[in-house]
Amino acid sequence: MIGQHLEISVLAILILTLSALGIAFTPLSFLLMVILPYAAFVIFIGGFIYRVVKWAKAPVPFRITTTCGQQSSLPWIKSAPLESPSTVWGVIGRMALEVFLFRSLFRNTDVAIVGQRPVYGSAKWLWFFGLLFHWSMLVIVLRHLRFFIEPIAPWIKGLSAIDGFFEIGVPTLYLSDLTVLAGLTFLFLRRMAVPRLRYISLVTDYFALLLLLGIVTTGLLMKHFFPADLLHVKNLALGWVTFAPAAPKGVGTVFYIHLSFVFTLFVWFPFSKLMHMGGIFLSPTRNLANDNRMKRHLNPWNAPVKVHTYEEYEDEFREKMKLAGLPLEKE
Ligand code: HEM
Repeated sequence: MIGQHLEISVLAILILTLSALGIAFTPLSFLLMVILPYAAFVIFIGGFIYRVVKWAKAPVPFRITTTCGQQSSLPWIKSAPLESPSTVWGVIGRMALEVFLFRSLFRNTDVAIVGQRPVYGSAKWLWFFGLLFHWSMLVIVLRHLRFFIEPIAPWIKGLSAIDGFFEIGVPTLYLSDLTVLAGLTFLFLRRMAVPRLRYISLVTDYFALLLLLGIVTTGLLMKHFFPADLLHVKNLALGWVTFAPAAPKGVGTVFYIHLSFVFTLFVWFPFSKLMHMGGIFLSPTRNLANDNRMKRHLNPWNAPVKVHTYEEYEDEFREKMKLAGLPLEKE
């Protein structure tokens, strides 16, 4: 079963590739170039909003503190303002470090049984390659904006120039292409090589990595081995954003596969684990100030509870209690 998860993912990628190739040489390419981009975009945005709104509606009746003894309380007890912030700015700082630097992953530890004892050690590789992959992906997506904007904004040209700074090969090999490949390859091999991870990996875990690897590989193939007609690509992309799409001919076969993978990613994204991109901002252990000792947080979803106070109880049974010789608060 465990091996099957990987096989199913590989099969899904193969089917996608073959479908893209099938479409490339038929009039169906119109579907891929003109209809699917809009459908994929609408599903992506709609699905994203749906998931975020659903999470936002979930009751979070109190502040969830994940730390112990680090909250702001008495002035003479040292608190941890970033780990357990009591102000909004503290929360923004914690969130920013999480989003930009994966702070909690940095503090990830690994455990191994040595003899009879568990021994904890640092585990920074996941953090390093995870960060490498995410930042590289961001740079690549931003660089792609050159297809969608005319004239190309100077900052996009600047970003591309920095990314191609080493001027390796013709056309220049971008640093982000190498780092994204390194990041994805590490994440994939890690899942395959660590038995515990292999055991818990599902089809969707492999599929996410393989799909991203597919997008990157086809992109690199296009750039370095089977060039796409970039003039056609630019016209196509500008056609999408100006709502005047037209399917070009002879843009290059690999381009069809690249696009099919990208649209699959868009459609699948909101319903997959990749939604951690939006979910991180709604994570209660990250986005709530730990100010329990300063403010009383009342659960806004508390249903009104019918209570019977001791005072009322005594009023009700006073005579009987008196007769039984029980002590009373009010005579
Ligand atoms: C999630 C979205 C996407 C990702 C991650 C991605 C990734 C990549 C990568 C890694 C490359 C290799 C070269 C480079 O880094 O520039 C590339 C090239 C390319 N991509 Fe994408 N891509 C995406 C979306 C798109 C879309 C929507 C288009 C259509 C306009 C597109 C068209 C191209 C073309 C034409 C190339 C070849 C560029 C060249 O020859 O200079 N990509 N892509």
